[in-house]
Formats: sequence, structure tokens, C-alpha cells
Amino acid sequence: MTPRPTSSTETSVLPEATARLDAEASIEQLLGALDLEGKVRLLTGETSWRLFAHEQIGLRSMAVSDGPVGVRGTGEVPGETSLLFPSPSALSATWDTALASRLGSLFAAEARRHGVDVVLAPQVNLQRTPVAGRHYECYSEDPLLTSAISGHVIAAMQDGGVGACLKHFVANDSETQRTEYLAHVDERTLREVYLAPFEHAVREVGAWTVMAAYNQVDDGVLAAPATEHTHLLRDVLKEEWGFDGVVVSDWLATRRTAESANGGLDLVMPGPGGPWEDRLVAAVRSGRVDESVVDDKVRRVLRLAVRVGALAELAPEPMPPATDETLLRELAARATVVVHDENHRLPLDPAAVRRVALIGPNAFEAFVQGGGSAHVNAAHVVSPAEGLRAALPHAEVTVLRGGDARRHAPDLDIVGRARDPRTGEPGLRISTLDAAGTVLASRVTTDWDGWERELPDVAAAVLVEATVHLAEPGEHRIGLGTVGTWTFEVDGVTVARGDRPAGAEVVLDSSVNSPDGEPAVVLVAAPRDVELRATLQNIRAQAYGSFARGVLRHALPGLSVDDEIDAAVEAAAQADLVVVVVGTNDEVESEGWDRTSLALPGRQDDLVARVLAVAPDAVVVVNAGAPVLLPWLETARTVLWTWFPGEECGNALADVLLGVTEPAGRLPWTLPAREADVPVPHARPGADGVLEYSEGVHVGYRGWELSRARPAAEFGHGLGWTSWQYEDVTVVEETAEHVVLAVDVTNVGPRRGTEVVQVYLEAPDAGAEAPGPGAPDRPVRWLAGFATVQADAGDRVTATVRVARRAFETWDVTAHRWVTPPGTYLFRVGRSVRDLRLATATDR
Ligand code: BGC
Repeated sequence: MTPRPTSSTETSVLPEATARLDAEASIEQLLGALDLEGKVRLLTGETSWRLFAHEQIGLRSMAVSDGPVGVRGTGEVPGETSLLFPSPSALSATWDTALASRLGSLFAAEARRHGVDVVLAPQVNLQRTPVAGRHYECYSEDPLLTSAISGHVIAAMQDGGVGACLKHFVANDSETQRTEYLAHVDERTLREVYLAPFEHAVREVGAWTVMAAYNQVDDGVLAAPATEHTHLLRDVLKEEWGFDGVVVSDWLATRRTAESANGGLDLVMPGPGGPWEDRLVAAVRSGRVDESVVDDKVRRVLRLAVRVGALAELAPEPMPPATDETLLRELAARATVVVHDENHRLPLDPAAVRRVALIGPNAFEAFVQGGGSAHVNAAHVVSPAEGLRAALPHAEVTVLRGGDARRHAPDLDIVGRARDPRTGEPGLRISTLDAAGTVLASRVTTDWDGWERELPDVAAAVLVEATVHLAEPGEHRIGLGTVGTWTFEVDGVTVARGDRPAGAEVVLDSSVNSPDGEPAVVLVAAPRDVELRATLQNIRAQAYGSFARGVLRHALPGLSVDDEIDAAVEAAAQADLVVVVVGTNDEVESEGWDRTSLALPGRQDDLVARVLAVAPDAVVVVNAGAPVLLPWLETARTVLWTWFPGEECGNALADVLLGVTEPAGRLPWTLPAREADVPVPHARPGADGVLEYSEGVHVGYRGWELSRARPAAEFGHGLGWTSWQYEDVTVVEETAEHVVLAVDVTNVGPRRGTEVVQVYLEAPDAGAEAPGPGAPDRPVRWLAGFATVQADAGDRVTATVRVARRAFETWDVTAHRWVTPPGTYLFRVGRSVRDLRLATATDR
């Protein structure tokens, strides 16, 4: 682990600390060699993903990259691909800090492979509402689980010489009006819930960078944009917690010069441009910003450079590249949660499987990562069919979609269908046009991903032309998904157009990721060609550069959803193993918007109900990041939750079904049975732009414990493939800093397995009708510690759970400090927040 910052008296005896003192002395020297312009230049990005180098002081350019599901890279290498990890919520579903450390090391290795110094992850915001678009990027609805898992990721990443970036500081828990809303969070809730994972990562782990969020925060002391929040950035983060790293703005989040510079922000990203540069130099010259404020920021940037090895003079030895071949597969399998498994049917006997019906929109097209800036380009994704076929070479695996659940048609098959209208060459013709419509440049390509980037200033639009061959008789739907001003012609007729010019907001609101557009219907009687012509606006998106965006989409004539469901039901009736994979997709779960419903998209609920009617043993797999309602849950015998599993999707699915790896996941959030019971059902700010965190500390399962509503599956739930008996709990150590519990559990099931022993705490006045006068309104119970243990069938094992002092503490809003209200605290130990098996107490 990276040591936590220590005081100067402690440092003088440690060699590591001596090195740090040397580094600090060098930083002072380098700072002294820079003039004001030279210093300020280091405080805004050179590009979207790079900081400026400064050769005279031996500083190379540092690179940053998103994000939480892998390391995408800086985009400087054409065709760059990355390992695609299971999403953060899948990692936290393992409740396994050792796996988190292994993933942190893999992050570091991937970052170094891509020449990246700082990964813009982890996202330690909380899953405040299940509809949050970036839910999958976060770890949990609980601050302690979030802290423990993310803390291990950060420590291992930084031990590998790569900086972590804690984001998004703070109260950035939803996407609706994401760059504008003012989160109003009371002081105690902020401290106990939303700041807690940041505090852990800064004080206990020593994170090197923090990202200031888009939103504004009213913490009772100050209502200000997160990039200018003097109280949170300077008083709390830097002074109280001793954060000595860099506070970087979220991309294009900084609006004002002196306010953000004085407010505690250190680095404006992306660049070039933005409100610092010359304007910051001028603000210093005019006295609105003191030069010492700039010096402090430069020191922090140089300190980061020392840490990642970007300063020639202080660069550490290069690290050997680390790999972990098996981790992604193991992790995706281990994270899988057995939500329901009547009579312990899992794992299945491979020898008994001859005919597999693999059904569902997400079996047809697995959803392996969410939408938005977290996206990485994987070299290869193992589909569910590929995984099952590899594991069951003797079986016949039939894949049926059972109805489309996507909003948009698939991308046009450019290679198979498109030709240049002029030469007949395969592909699309892409031309750049000036304002008068004159062609500036033109090329034919089969390799177009719907983005035309780095357009010259003179370009006003991009023209995309193609002759598309349609052979299949019936209704073809052809569309264009784009943003800004545009026209779309089919056979010389304008079928759709957009008249609203767009700017950088389309990147910020993520509408470029899954752009909308109504399709045109083309009727085909005999094979024919259609001529497509799309003009797309050159979008000048500040530091994101100039680009045009257009996705050509094409849906073939085909079966209706009813017909597809009928076909799936028929196949299910014939198979000896039926696996139905349902879920969300990147049009649903993404940065940029929150969901408007918890229902599965499309007709997936009908599909599952109909399949279960003919194949009651069907295994239902939910491939989603955030909770969805499962109205058929009680009728399904086996239900698995597989998250966004990353590139090893199909292999991991085969492993858990067929007995290679235990699906040992436990839900890091609550799965609702009814939308009406959800404590925070939406995240829409009021008309005044204020997002009230009115549930206070009762976020997630704490809200469910308060209302006693019955969820479909509670926080911490997960059955694994064996059974556990809880035998005994004893307090084995008690100090001011912690209480250590020993929990004995026996594996009473048929095979070796993993148990997640969960310890919840109840406050001294729990059970009273209302808290006594002046007593804080504490949650009914809250997670205080946990441990993951393994045992063979029949074996007993002891889980050691450390409950830190902070678990007992509450934030005193009068004294503005942590206090432990005295009294007897009850530990409740069990398998989930509602499956509590043992209890013991301690006096504090
Ligand atoms: C997101 C950040 C991300 C950044 C760079 C922003 O829009 O909120 O999470 O790191 O873009 O892609």
C-alpha cells in the first residue's frame, strides 16, 4: 500500500521519507527555474489527454486516460485496443479486496502499456439512485464497501507507478442536468456518506489526483461549483485531509478564472483553451490571484510527475510489465450473483447437456460495458455463444434473440453493402466541405466508425455518400443517428434533417455516443440499390476538437418481435439446457442520462415469462449494471446476475454454469421488487436546479431498512453454490482504533465455496421509537466490516473482521468533528443486511 502521508517528525527516520524530502527539495528548485508564464503553462492540458512537457526542467509530457473499465489510451495510436475489465460494480460484488488489488495491478500494467501516467478512475461516487446513468461505474450504494474495494484498486495501481484519479468530487451521483445542478447535501450526510470514500482514499491510501465534478455543491457552508469550492477543495480535502496531489477539473468543467484558481483547483482539462492560460497570468498580474497560489499548483503537478516518473532527474527504475492472464475471466465469474437457485441446481453437469437454447437480446449481443467516457475498445469479446460452445464441444448451441430490445437499428454493414457512388469501389465516400459546399478533401473507406475527427477550421460539414445494396424482400429501415445541423437523403429525397447547431455540449451530455435519428422505411420487392447522402455539421467542441458524427443504421426485414418470441419458445421446448440472457444495453445505461424506468427494455419480460412456461428449469441470466425489475423472479428457478462482465463474458458464463468457478457474488446494492419502494426513485433537480439529498444518510439499503419495504433481493444477498452455517462470533480485540471480530462459519453444502461474512452495526438507541433528544438520526443498521473466506465442503473456517473506529463514529454538526456517541453497540453478523445470523455487542 502507498503509505499515508506522515508528519515531518515521523519522516526523518524513514529512508522512503528521506527520498520524499529530496524530491520536495528538487521540486522547489525546479519551481524556482520557472517564470510565471512557464508555471501557468503547466496548469492546462496540452491536448485532451496530455499535459505540457517542459524540456528545460526535464519534465516530459504526462498522459491521462479514462477510465473505470480499462485504460482506453490517449487516442494517439490508430486502432489502439485495451483489455476490457468487468465494470466496477461487478468487482465490488466479489467483496474481495485481494481481487481488487489484482485488478489495480492490471490497471497499472495496462496504463504503462498505453503510455498512460494517470488513469481517470476509480469513480467513488455512490449509487444513490438505481436509475443513475453511471451506476455501473460506481462500486456500491454503501460507502464502506466502496472505500474498501476502491482503496485496494488505488493502492495497487499506484504501487505500479500509475496515478489514480478519484472522481467525481463530490455529490456527482446522477446525470440529469449534470453540468448544472446544485446538490444540496447536509453536512453530516456529506461526511458520513458521500465524502467517506474520498476521505478513505486520500487519508488511508494516499491517492495522487482528485477530479472536481461538473455539478455545484451546497454543503451548508458554501454553494459553489465543485471546481471552485473553497470549502471542500481547500479546507476539507487539502487542509483537513492533507491531500498533497493534484485537483483536476472534470473535462470542460472549469468556467471562471480567479474563482477556480483561488478555490483550490490545480489543473484545467482538457486543453488547450479554457479559462486559465493567459487569463490566469493576467489574474496574477492584476492581483486577483496571488502567485503563491499558482506556485502551490505547480508544486502539486511536479509532485505528480515525480510519482509517475515523468521528471528525468527523479525517474524511478522502469517497472517490469505485469500481466494477470486469468484475472478477467475469474473476476467476471466470481462476481456473478446467484439471485435465486431453487434446490441448488448449480453447477450443471456438462455431460448431460446435448442441446442448448441460448435465448435473449443479450445472448444475441452481449452487453459487456456501459456507455460514455468509460468505453474502451476491446480487441476481442467472448460472446455467450462462443463461451458455451467452447465449454460444451459435444453440444449443439442455438442462439435466438427472442425480440429486439434496442432502440436503434444496428450499424450499416459498410463492408458488405456499401459502394462509392462514383467509382463503385466498396465503402463510403467521405468528403469535407467548406461553407460554400466546395469539396476540400474526399476519400473512400470501408473502415468508418461514424466519427470524422480533427477537421480543419475551414470545414463546415462532412458529406457521407454511399450506394447501398438491398437484396432481401420486405421493409428495410435505414437511418442516420447524428447531432447538430444535418440532412439525410435517400434516393435524392430529403427524409430527415436537423436545424440546431451543436457545440461541446453534445460531448458533455453524451448525445454523441448513441445519437438519435428516425429511420426511413425502404420497401424492397426485388434486389435494388439505394443512394444515401448525409451532410453532417462540423462540431467545434472546444478542447475536444472539431469533428462530425454520423452513424448509418440499417435494420433488415425480419420477424416481428412476436414471431421471434414464438421461435425462441419453440427452441426452448426442444432443448435440454435453456439459458435466457436478458438485460439493458448502452442506449439505456450510460453517462449523459439517467434511466426513466427500472423495467427491462423491449418485450424481455414477456420473453422470459413465455420461456419459463415451457422450460421451467431455464437459467435466467440478467446482464445489466444497475437494478432492473424482474416481475417473473418468483417463477424462475435459477436467476444469475452477470453485470457488465467485460471481454471474458461468454467464458465466465460457461464457467459458472458448468462448475469451473463459483458464482460467489453478493449484491453491492438493493434489487427493488417495485419501483414505488425505491428510496430515491429519480434524480431530477427541482425547477430551481437544486437536487435535494433529502433522504440524508438513509441512502440505499439504509432507506430500505427504514421503510421495511421488501426488495426482490436485499443488499449483500447472493447464494453461491454451497450453504453456510453461522456458528459463533466473538470479539477478539478491542482498542480505541478498532474492534476485531472472529466469526466461525461452516460450509454445510456439497462443494468448496466462498462466503462473504458481513458485519452490520446498530447504534445504542436502535430499537427505540425515535432517537433521544439531540441524538443523531442514525441508520437502522449499517455495514461496518466484512471478510471473504473459503472452505471445503464440511469444513469450518474463521473469518476475521476488523471494524474500524470510524464505523462507530458520526459527524457532530455542532462541533464539526467525528464523535462516538457512548453506549452499547450491537454487531449483527450474517449473509446479507436481512439475513442476520449472529450477534454480539461492544461498549464504546
Ligand atoms: C466525465 C469524466 C471523464 C472525462 C474524460 C467527463 O465527461 O465525466 O468521468 O473522465 O469526461 O473523458
